[in-house]
Amino acid sequence: MCGIVGYTGTTPCCDILIDCLSRLEYRGYDSAGIAVCENGGIVSVKAAGKLKHLKAKIADMEKPKGTCGIGHTRWATHGEPNDTNAHPHGTDRVMLVHNGIIENYKEIKSFLTEKGYSFYSQTDSETVAKLIDYYYDEDPLQAIINAKAHLVGSYSLGILFADRPGFIYALRQDSPLIVGKGTKENFIASDVPAILHHTRSYYILEHDEIAVIAANQVTFLDLEGNVIAKELHEATWDIDAAEKAGYDHFMIKEIHEQPSVIAKTMRPHIINGMPDFSDCGVQADDLRTIQKLHIIGCGSAVHAGLIGEYLIEKLAGLDVEVSIASEFRYRDPIIHPGDFVIAISQSGETADTLEALRLSKKKGAKTLGIINVVGSSIARESDMVCYTQAGPEISVCSTKAYMVQMTTMYLFAFELAYIRGSISAEACRYYVRQMNKIPAQIEQYLSDTSVCQHAATHLKDANSLLYIGRGLDYCLSMEGSLKLKEISYIHSESYAAGELKHGTISLIENGTPVIAIATQSSLIHKTMSNIQEVKSRGAFVIVVTTDRHTIKKDAADFVITIPDNEEILLPLLAAVPMQLLAYYTAIIKGNNVDQPRNLAKSVTVE
Ligand code: AGP
Repeated sequence: MCGIVGYTGTTPCCDILIDCLSRLEYRGYDSAGIAVCENGGIVSVKAAGKLKHLKAKIADMEKPKGTCGIGHTRWATHGEPNDTNAHPHGTDRVMLVHNGIIENYKEIKSFLTEKGYSFYSQTDSETVAKLIDYYYDEDPLQAIINAKAHLVGSYSLGILFADRPGFIYALRQDSPLIVGKGTKENFIASDVPAILHHTRSYYILEHDEIAVIAANQVTFLDLEGNVIAKELHEATWDIDAAEKAGYDHFMIKEIHEQPSVIAKTMRPHIINGMPDFSDCGVQADDLRTIQKLHIIGCGSAVHAGLIGEYLIEKLAGLDVEVSIASEFRYRDPIIHPGDFVIAISQSGETADTLEALRLSKKKGAKTLGIINVVGSSIARESDMVCYTQAGPEISVCSTKAYMVQMTTMYLFAFELAYIRGSISAEACRYYVRQMNKIPAQIEQYLSDTSVCQHAATHLKDANSLLYIGRGLDYCLSMEGSLKLKEISYIHSESYAAGELKHGTISLIENGTPVIAIATQSSLIHKTMSNIQEVKSRGAFVIVVTTDRHTIKKDAADFVITIPDNEEILLPLLAAVPMQLLAYYTAIIKGNNVDQPRNLAKSVTVE
């Protein structure tokens, strides 16, 4: 995933482009660059590495003074992260920035080579720029339309033509792009936080639409050149919602936002004390008649789906299958018309989840997206969409988004079970009442994170460790393991506690940390036996449980106690120490918590 921005107005745009890019670095930070219309041509500056390297390069030169330009921050997909492969890409006549992947770029490159073009980079994006150049004969729109006809893949593009100073041309296929509307100035950006300091008003560019953006006018056209009317959206996110608001890192800020975003996410789906998803288009008849429910997603999103599977099978007695999206789409899954598929995604742009959704629709399933980004591709392509209310999640490591995905799965499970007659209205109301306590309980738990900070000191030197649990605790252990791995760079593995004795227990050595999640009363005795098995072989055991359970002194080396609630709701509370353990371990190791190595916030490539 990359971040693209553009500005056209009455102010020299170099600093504005850098400012907008700085708010998109979470989309990728392998390199950055800008291109500015200047003196009848296009000046471009680009540098490998984070944005600060580009800033340094610009500081050492005569800053471009043009008032129209584009910018890019890259997460490498084709060609290593270096100056040459950094965007923008193009020719003296046409320069562009690109987010996405052109799957047939090699064929296009061969075609253009035969036409006399040469290439300086390894990127797919350069081929797009030169394809537009090839078709450019003083009509930018026609050149773009002709080039687009060749393209296979995903792309959002911001394009400059040297002989059209002041104009930015934009189009998209799958990868997101918005057009920001200011006063005598307009913008393009991959995501809303980029422009919030300049304007809250924006249009969402759809597939097969071209935007022609000038300082005082934005025109939207279809591929036949017809003008299209578009809805203007207003960003409700506070500007500081996209900033750190005084916290050291976006991640810890977003952990602390969880109480409020859980409440915000629940609110629209609780009517008179009962769960209700009718505003998302979910019909009671659908819920009553579903024969099979599939849940698809990646990373933390699929972990939220696993919690949903457990709940729905337990409460609604419905057959549920959770699949990692990148496996689902190549496995030829059995989907019968009328099956229900839930696609969970924070960004709504994850390529594997998007393609798995498309496959589901092709096979006749009804699809519901549980998505955090309004107007994102998965949201728009789902038959129904339930927006979570996490606000912008900037840290690459998902915390609040995972939490609100789980929250939504809980309410959905309660409504499903009630509609299908598996639980009474009384039971449903009870669960909802208990859920309404969760935000305050998390708030209270976060008032003192010293226990988790201390526990993290026992993990920092580990080479590898295990997260174990049973039932819902096992589902949660997968998320705990992912959190630790992705930001502390310590290997960990989630394991079903009951499965350890079938081989994996051989990994236990003296001092091996084992994080045991033990919140479920019906299973805790079994889990405690598994804890004893690893402890007797030298493991350093950290138990996560509630104050309902007393852990004997010699049974564990460290106990993390979470507030108590209805047992099936406890993953919402136990998730918080999982996040904090990873965060504090990563801090101790001096890692870049918000932008961990090799990762980007949304994986819009396969
Ligand atoms: C979570 O901490 C990860 N950064 C990652 O696994 C993420 O959950 C996954 O890439 C799915 O992203 P999405 O929710 O935007 O689809």
